[in-house]
Amino acid sequence: MPRKLALVTGASSGIGAATAERLAREDWSVVLVARSREKLDTVARRIGAAAHVECLDASDGNAVIAMAARVRSTLGIPDLIVNAAGAGAWKRIEETSPTEARAMMGAPYFAAFHVVHAFMRDLLARNSGVIVHVGSPGAWAPWPSSVGYAGARWALRGLHEALCADLAGTGVHSCHVLFGKVESAYFDTNENTSARMPGIVRLARTITPDECAEVIVRTARRPRRTVAYPPMARVLLAAHTVAPWFTRWMMRTSGYRPVS
Ligand SMILES: NC(=O)c1ccc[n+]([C@@H]2O[C@H](COP(=O)([O-])OP(=O)(O)OC[C@H]3O[C@@H](n4cnc5c(N)ncnc54)[C@H](OP(=O)(O)O)[C@@H]3O)[C@@H](O)[C@H]2O)c1
Repeated sequence: MPRKLALVTGASSGIGAATAERLAREDWSVVLVARSREKLDTVARRIGAAAHVECLDASDGNAVIAMAARVRSTLGIPDLIVNAAGAGAWKRIEETSPTEARAMMGAPYFAAFHVVHAFMRDLLARNSGVIVHVGSPGAWAPWPSSVGYAGARWALRGLHEALCADLAGTGVHSCHVLFGKVESAYFDTNENTSARMPGIVRLARTITPDECAEVIVRTARRPRRTVAYPPMARVLLAAHTVAPWFTRWMMRTSGYRPVS
């Protein structure tokens, strides 16, 4: 049987890199998408022949369309798309420049939008495929000083929910997977993310990118609309559904406060 094909954005680091490696170990071919050539090549070397590197800024819609054309003609249509590209400092709105705000929407939101857009006609024509969006609890209960970050995660959640409406009755599935704190380079490359972490997050164990990869691969096999991991993230989500005022209060009171 031919290998299945996955396309993973954010594959040069953290959750995306671990997912790409995990998929390759399970015999998938994987297209690795991110901007840093060197980091992508390092991940691709670890994977071996199953890896195909596509170095681009996924927030650039035309670059994504061109990439999709190359993938389609050389490898085929992905069976799985994992939208793991994402960045964004944790800041208050008065600290966030218009350029930073635009970049934060660039990935995850526009990156996910463009990749799904580029392959959607193919997926619908084949009537199969799984799309996994890597999300955050910030898409339900934002914490203080997360304006640009949370806005982009709400947009990603909105994209997913709207796709579910469009894809009902088809063989194409959109899945939103939200993780608690993950040990990744995110906290080194994005300003204030450690210093402004709400205290409540410490209640949940920090998980590894490999655990995230396992959850994503499981979701690819058995698609579900919303997945939360670890269990404490599920508890937070359930609490937010029943008593949103409570989770908002927890985030607010355990979050960052500027020194006045
Ligand atoms: N870490 C956590 O605790 C955690 C928890 C829940 C959710 N998440 C979410 O998961 C996503 C990934 O986080 P992570 O922890 O894996 O972070 P990470 O280790 O910093 O990885 C982010 C990845 O996104 C890529 N990327 C960023 N902007 C891009 C763009 N415009 N085009 C293409 N690729 C781009 C980066 O590669 P290049 O820089 O090479 O482009 C990198 O491969 C983020 O959206 C984050 O909010 C993270």
